[in-house]
Amino acid sequence: MLGVSERVRRAVCPGSYDPVTHGHLDVVARAAALYDEVVVAVLHNPAKQGTFTVEERLAFVESAVADAGMSDQVRVLSFADTLLVDVCRDVGADVVVKGFRSGTDVAYELPMALMNRHLSGVETVFLPGEPSLEHVSSSLVKEVVRYGGDVSGLVPDEVRDALVTRLRGDH
Ligand code: PNS
Repeated sequence: MLGVSERVRRAVCPGSYDPVTHGHLDVVARAAALYDEVVVAVLHNPAKQGTFTVEERLAFVESAVADAGMSDQVRVLSFADTLLVDVCRDVGADVVVKGFRSGTDVAYELPMALMNRHLSGVETVFLPGEPSLEHVSSSLVKEVVRYGGDVSGLVPDEVRDALVTRLRGDH
């Protein structure tokens, strides 16, 4: 019988977020429209040097989430050396939401989704990437900035400015 469930439906949007892009934020906003709560899980490996520290990545996501008016529904947390399925268990989520763009993304994402379901039963819901952001990824954005290109509109302005300082020095 159909009934009104009291259970909070919570989704995890995982990633390295090094740094967050408008592609990530589009997926988070769309996950927030589908679920009661969203946990943005910034996953990192302390042995691997990223472009930004985990504290910087968290701060960028938090301020973008606040600017988008999503703070009531979206929490941003970091996890080190952790399986995604354990993150889901710890925050009480039974679904992972991810965006996918190209066939390459599917080849990369599908084994992880199947492994996560194998490990704990957690399902992964894939949202098709917004076409205008199809070309946006953290790694491409960094490459463009490194060689002098402009990434305005692809990442929050604060992230763009931090990338220029970090990857090009002060000029
Ligand atoms: O933004 P990214 O780098 O594509 O994110 C990949 C991430 C962090 C989501 C993925 O590497 C991950 O889930 N890491 C956690 C470790 C884990 O659970 N590995 C097994 C997945 S099958």
